[in-house]
Amino acid sequence: MADQKLKGRRTMVNLLMFQVVLSASLHVCFAEIGHGQPPRNISTVHPVDVNSFGSSVYLPVSGNVHPIGSYSVTVVIGNPPKQFQLDIDTGSDFAWVQCDPCEGCTLPPDRRYKLGTNKYVLCKDPICAAFHPPNPSQCINNPKQKCSFKVEYADHGSAAGVVVSDSFPLRLVNGTVFQPRLAFGCAYTLKNPDPSSAAIAGVLGLGRSKASISAQLSSMGVSQNIIGHCFNDKGGFLSFGANFVPKSGMTWAPMLRSSSDNYYSLGPAEVFYHTKPTGIKGLNVIFDSGTTYTYLNSGAYGSLLNAIRKYLIGKPLHEVKDGALPICWKGGKPIISLRDVQDYFGILAFSFFGSSNIQLQLPLEAYLIVTEQKNVCLGILNGTENGLGTLNMIGDISMQGKLMIFDNENQRIGWASADCTRKFG
Ligand SMILES: *[C@@H]1O[C@H](CO)[C@@H](O)[C@H](O)[C@H]1NC(C)=O
Ligand SMILES: *[C@@H]1O[C@H](CO)[C@@H](O)[C@H](O)[C@H]1NC(C)=O
Ligand SMILES: *[C@@H]1O[C@H](CO)[C@@H](O)[C@H](O)[C@H]1NC(C)=O
Repeated sequence: MADQKLKGRRTMVNLLMFQVVLSASLHVCFAEIGHGQPPRNISTVHPVDVNSFGSSVYLPVSGNVHPIGSYSVTVVIGNPPKQFQLDIDTGSDFAWVQCDPCEGCTLPPDRRYKLGTNKYVLCKDPICAAFHPPNPSQCINNPKQKCSFKVEYADHGSAAGVVVSDSFPLRLVNGTVFQPRLAFGCAYTLKNPDPSSAAIAGVLGLGRSKASISAQLSSMGVSQNIIGHCFNDKGGFLSFGANFVPKSGMTWAPMLRSSSDNYYSLGPAEVFYHTKPTGIKGLNVIFDSGTTYTYLNSGAYGSLLNAIRKYLIGKPLHEVKDGALPICWKGGKPIISLRDVQDYFGILAFSFFGSSNIQLQLPLEAYLIVTEQKNVCLGILNGTENGLGTLNMIGDISMQGKLMIFDNENQRIGWASADCTRKFG
C-alpha cells in the first residue's frame, strides 16, 4: 500500500523555498575516547584529531522497521522541562517540534512546545542562515525579523514555523548534565503529517548542516559533531560525540562533500548479490535514517530484482501479492522468521570507491521483512516509482544491526556490525 511504503519517510527535499563486516567490540570501546582509525587506503581522509574535545551524548532509541516504520528518541526541552519524541532523520537539516498554536499538528496542545518570551532567534543571528535555503533574502534585509523555517519531505509532508532557542538539558556520558540553549524549529503549520506516528512531536534532523543539534553542540565545545546510530528490531541508541566511535573494527569511507545538499552520501557504488555483480555500477547513495525502506532508482532496482529472482530459481519460494510491500514471496510453509528462508537468499553488498575493502554488506534482515501474512517481502523499493527520481537511499532497514557513524569532524562515514542492545548509564 502506497502509504505504508512511504511510512516514516523524512527526507528533506532540497528546499527551493526561494528556489565488510567486522564485529565491532563495542563494550571495549565505550570507555575510551575514540580517536578512530584512519580509514583503510583512503588517503584523502584525515585521521581523527588527537585533540578531540568534549564528552558525548547517549540517547536510547525506540522503534522498528516493521510495523512501526521509524526510529525515535525522547528529548527534554525548556524550563520547566517537557518531553518530546522526535523522529531521527539524517536526511534533513535541523530539529523541529510541534508548537502551540498550530494548524495541522497531531499532538494535543498540552503536549506541544509552548513558546515563551525572548526565545525567538532573529534573522541577524548567525545560526538563522543554517535554517534557511542558500538565499535568505528576506532575512538579510530585515535583521531584526524573526527567523523562519520551512521543510518539505519526500512524502509531501511539510513543516513551517519560526526558529527558537531554548534550554535543551542533556546528560553527558562523563556524568555532567549540561543545559545548553539550542536552536530548533517551532512548527506552526504541518501539512500531511504521517498519520501512523501520531505520538511523534517532530523531527530530529541530523544532516550535515550547521543547524543540527550535533553541530550546535560541537560549536559550543560540548561534544564533537560525530553522529552514531545503532538500530535493531527493539530500538537501539543514538549518540553525539567521539566516545562511541570504536577504535577498530570499523569500515570507513570519505563522505562526498561536493553536493549542494546536506545529505550523507558515498559514491559511486557497485552492487553485488551473493558475491556476483548485479550490473549496478556508479550508484550514488545517501544514508537516510528518516526513511524506513531502501530505495533504488528504476534501473538499479530492476537489475537487483533480476539478480534476486535469478538466485531464487529452483528454490521453494514463489511470488505472491501481500499488501505490505510490492514484492513478496510465499514458502511451502508459513514463514515465521528470516531463519526460515536463510538458505534461499544471498548477501547484498554495496562496494564503494572500487574497493572490495569498503563494502556495506546487507544480510537478509537488512533488506527483507517477514509480514503478518507469513510471507517474506523485499524491503528495497523502486525510488523512481515513489517520486524520488534518481536518488538512491539507504533507509533504516539496511542500517539495522550496524553501528553507523557519521563523522562530520573528519568527513567520513563508518559502519560495523553490532547488536545495538548496549545500554548506557
Ligand atoms: C591502496 O590500494 C591500492 C590498490 O588496492 C594499492 O596499490 C595501494 O598500495 C594501497 N595504498 C595503501 C596506502 O595501502
Ligand atoms: C564533561 O564534559 C563537558 C563538556 O565537554 C565539560 O564541560 C564538563 O566539565 C565535563 N565534566 C566532567 C566531570 O569531566
Ligand atoms: C520502477 O518505476 C518506474 C516508474 O514508475 C517504472 O517505469 C519501472 O518499470 C519500475 N521498475 C521496475 C523494475 O518495476
